Amino acid sequence: MDLTELPFCTACSLHETRQRVVVGSGPTMPRLMVVGEAPGRSEDEGGEPFIGRSGQLLVRLIFEELGLQRADYFVTNAVKCRPPQNRTPRLSEAATCRAWLVAQIDSLRPTRILTVGNVAAKAVFGFSDGISRAHGRLGLHQDIPGVATYHPAAALRAGPNVVDVMRADLRVLRALGV
Ligand code: URA
Repeated sequence: MDLTELPFCTACSLHETRQRVVVGSGPTMPRLMVVGEAPGRSEDEGGEPFIGRSGQLLVRLIFEELGLQRADYFVTNAVKCRPPQNRTPRLSEAATCRAWLVAQIDSLRPTRILTVGNVAAKAVFGFSDGISRAHGRLGLHQDIPGVATYHPAAALRAGPNVVDVMRADLRVLRALGV
């Protein structure tokens, strides 16, 4: 797949309501690639993933547990266009967009992958369990190891317990050597 065509994708109906395709940002051959669910309103307007509130929490936790600055890793989403009203992406949307995600991973060659939330854990590692069972588990995308954790929006809703679980999941990633 030609990644230069991703900003113009019309493969699913999300293109009808999006403002822009949120491709992702960060270095190539990064030590870490973070994969979220789908852009929200701020990201659809700003064109960058995780620039809203949940993104700020995620960036802080990654810095505190892994010592990485935002410029040190690549961030993207399993689905590149905002679903209306921020609904969960449909299985068909995630399946269609997965080809772009796989092409991005193949081209960036990250050393480790962190997925946040159900949709990304399934798209990247193929986990069929929900995130309450799959978090903290080692996953493999082709030969690239990584870990699944909760979505930071869940931590913003549910509070410090989920933040503590996310920190523990990040330490699993640190133990892998990120
Ligand atoms: N939630 C996500 O999963 N990704 C974003 O980019 C923003 C919010």
